Amino acid sequence: MKISVIGCGYLGAVHAASMAKLGHDVVGIDVDAAKVEALSQGHAPFYEPGLPELLSETVDNGSLRFSADISQASGATVHFIAVGTPQQADSNAADLRFVDAAFEALLPFIGPGHLVVGKSTVPVGTAQRLAEIIEATGASLAWNPEFLREGFAVQDTISPDRLVYGVRPGDDSASAILDDVYSSILAQETPRIITDFATAELVKVAANAFLATKISFINAMAEVAEVVGADVTQLADAIGHDQRIGRRFLNAGLGFGGGCLPKDIRAFMARASELGAGEALSFLGEVDAINLRRRERMVDLCREVLGGTIEGAKIAVLGLAFKPESDDVRDSPALDVAARLSELGGIVRATDPHAIETSRRVRPGLDYVETVAEAAKDADVVLVLTEWREYRAIDPAELESIVSVRAILDGRNCLDPVQWREAGWTYRALGRP
Ligand code: UDX
Repeated sequence: MKISVIGCGYLGAVHAASMAKLGHDVVGIDVDAAKVEALSQGHAPFYEPGLPELLSETVDNGSLRFSADISQASGATVHFIAVGTPQQADSNAADLRFVDAAFEALLPFIGPGHLVVGKSTVPVGTAQRLAEIIEATGASLAWNPEFLREGFAVQDTISPDRLVYGVRPGDDSASAILDDVYSSILAQETPRIITDFATAELVKVAANAFLATKISFINAMAEVAEVVGADVTQLADAIGHDQRIGRRFLNAGLGFGGGCLPKDIRAFMARASELGAGEALSFLGEVDAINLRRRERMVDLCREVLGGTIEGAKIAVLGLAFKPESDDVRDSPALDVAARLSELGGIVRATDPHAIETSRRVRPGLDYVETVAEAAKDADVVLVLTEWREYRAIDPAELESIVSVRAILDGRNCLDPVQWREAGWTYRALGRP
């Protein structure tokens, strides 16, 4: 099938390459000429395991190309909209200007028999509004939310847990076209839910709200555990054995960040308020507050371990990305904590295997170093803020002659307290005695 993907950011670039891998003829369109240039040469503009290989393969075999010219979409009959929906600068609501601009730019190139497929995360009601706009062209609209996780984006796109199609009631041709697009995914017996626009839009934000709630639930338990001297990681293991609860997404620590969960729960609350259903989601305000409190708690713990004052202390920060296997620092708890410690007068030296460049763009004033050894040199305390595999594997003996004081704070409950304490270190974590 001939497919266009409008918007080649995180979602769109991965989707375009994955559709080409599935055997389609794909053009990715983006207004950013530099991004188009990089992608055209098979280079991913961000760190995502497996994506560079997939891009080179599909660009080299001619099934994938990129362009900054929207008219290149005219050869396709299925058009995915994968542009960003960031949080508005002055409110919690989603900013839909990129979605609206993409639809407007695409209008001259669509007609009867074409299907426009929204993948961006949008406030409920958006698909209905856009469907009315494109009706005059004779094309149809479907909303097909995406659930990919950074770090597993290619795998999540090619082997998703489920497919969701939001279509106009009775629009069987829209579902049939999507079935053709995803035929090799459906052959893996992937569940597929065909529903209306509003449900499809809600599925996405409800899934993210549930995940955020699960993380904040365990972080609330961490707060209580700290007061009573209990261990939240053992508590998570114990309740996670109950299959109704499940152990995944019960890792207590610095909490959630990234380009999706924080902004999506806020936009969901904002939209529900507009629709008069704000009360139903008021608990998400608490989920957000618990999440943000983790960062403050980390700063407090650091102050405590340093004997009451951060000013002038040498602080090594290991990890800046919002999670491992990503260079994304959007709303990153790790980068936020590093910046706060620096603002409080700490002499912060921070490192990350992949997120130094992205961090430098957001927080240019911090002191970034390439290696753990440079960060830890003469440090009064070492903080692990993103649980990269290489940080989980650090041997305390490697660091003891480098640091000034043997103190480590585990912001992600990813280290073995027994190992560090036996090596003579002060080990502190969130929600553990
Ligand atoms: C999320 C959703 O998982 C995905 O389905 C959606 O499409 C986009 O948003 P992503 O932002 O890539 O994906 O990251 P995710 O793996 O969900 O992690 C989000 C944050 O939660 C990270 O900061 C992570 O460190 C944190 N987290 C996750 C926890 O603090 N504890 C956990 O147990 C799990």
